[in-house]
Amino acid sequence: MSNQDETTHLGDPDVPAAVIVLAAGAGTRMKSRTPKILHRIGGVSMIGHALRAARALEPRELAVVVRHERDRVAEHIGSVDPAAVLIDQDEMPGTGRAVQVALEGLDARTGNPVSGTVVVTYGDVPLLTPETLRRLVTVHHGEGNAVSVLTAVLEDPTGYGRIQRHEEDGTVLAIVEHKDASPEQRAIREVNSGIYAFDAAVLRRALTQVDASNAQGEMYLTDVLAIARADGGRVAAVVQADRWQVEGANDRVQLAALGVELNRRVVEQWMLAGVTVVDPATTWIDATVVLEEDVTILPGTQLHGGTVVARDAVVGPDTTLTDVVIGEGAHVVRTHGSGARIGAGASVGPFTYLRPGTVLGEDGKIGAFYETKNVTVGRGSKLSHLGYAGDAEIGEYTNIGCGNITANYDGVDKHRTVIGSHVRTSSNTVFVAPVSMGDGAYTGAGAVVRKDVPAGALAVTDAAQRNIDGWVAQKRSGSASATAAAGTPSTDSPTSTPTEEKSTQA
Ligand code: UD1
Ligand code: CA
Repeated sequence: MSNQDETTHLGDPDVPAAVIVLAAGAGTRMKSRTPKILHRIGGVSMIGHALRAARALEPRELAVVVRHERDRVAEHIGSVDPAAVLIDQDEMPGTGRAVQVALEGLDARTGNPVSGTVVVTYGDVPLLTPETLRRLVTVHHGEGNAVSVLTAVLEDPTGYGRIQRHEEDGTVLAIVEHKDASPEQRAIREVNSGIYAFDAAVLRRALTQVDASNAQGEMYLTDVLAIARADGGRVAAVVQADRWQVEGANDRVQLAALGVELNRRVVEQWMLAGVTVVDPATTWIDATVVLEEDVTILPGTQLHGGTVVARDAVVGPDTTLTDVVIGEGAHVVRTHGSGARIGAGASVGPFTYLRPGTVLGEDGKIGAFYETKNVTVGRGSKLSHLGYAGDAEIGEYTNIGCGNITANYDGVDKHRTVIGSHVRTSSNTVFVAPVSMGDGAYTGAGAVVRKDVPAGALAVTDAAQRNIDGWVAQKRSGSASATAAAGTPSTDSPTSTPTEEKSTQA
């Protein structure tokens, strides 16, 4: 299939004419203001997962049937798969009606009736893989079926439509909805996944015969199977052993269970691709994240969105990163970050907060208890401990001392701090932006840098120090400090504080 060229591609029976994704339902059991199919697992909405699987079949048309929260859903679909065609379901309910309006819509779009294979899937079945859909289509063509339905055998089939098979030859006769089923039919454990491949002409014709005379008063798509069979078409089931792939999320309990399983699969896939994951149970990796070989992920780590980690990097423990790009061999320890780039060989953490726009150069360091935002740190530069760097640019091989702050906000506007290369700043320097320091400049301890510092200069702003002799004896008489100052070591343990010392301090 994959080595066929463009010209044979359109005629390829394994390329469906259309995939129709049903997504009109309300999803009331989620009890949410967010439409069900917009809830996310693995960093991707449920409809996003469904569209990824559907798009992988490269169908000529990909249609999504919408109704509930139509505009919000449409906007989201436009952002994840702009080529998807939106079809509005009318007030007539049921999966059969949903497919019927989709077919009508697609026919009208192309000007002639869709012919060939039509695949139907749901917007709320996020673990379904392209491979399973391809297998369904391949079997459908291989067997020359009019309808092929993906089924699963479940321990507890409650709620699902049941697959009714011929007693002797085992062929599929019909699907009976749980609410319409007799006790004997309810004992059947093979269920309808709701995912099918249809011959378009058979589907179109059969849907004209589907009515709403059932327990739910809906047009059931499932009725198409018995109608197609009665018309002489071949109806068959493709059994899916992996039940997770056909499982939908109706409430938040199921959503979480699917999320855990998806994560298990994603983590496993990365381990098989050469990533060391020390504790898969506490490691969460979005479906969109990319990891290279020999990356190590330590326990308690969550990687989200467009995060990319290059070879030999070590991430974690207890690190949460969203849209962070990490270079080869970098170490990121106990860090919370988003929208940041960390250069090869660089080191970050522990207890570091990287905010968007942080760019750390090769072999650079942003150390313990640092917050950064919108800052570029050049190669080999180090911000080792306790500070804030925001709206700043720092050159190469500069060392920022302990406790430095860029005071970027004047209460109204944000301003930039520009620091050159090979700069050495002393502890507790405050940069009152906008301000700059030239290459090779220094600051003294506690400097408050309000004026630009030329290259090679030392900036000092400290007021002269005064020592007031005997101050402790006068103002803190009787305290442990006063006793110590008098040269008579206190008999109290150093941690016990006399009450009168506390009260005089207040
Ligand atoms: C349906 C099947 C059932 C199957 C089950 C698998 C029918 C009649 N029944 O039942 O055999 O075992 O799925 O999960 O098809 N939808 C629309 N428009 C509608 C109604 C539904 O787009 O008018 C969409 C929903 O958004 C949802 C999907 O179709 O994504 C299934 O609808 P739902 O109401 O959950 O069907 P079930 O009753 O679960
Ligand atoms: Ca359902």
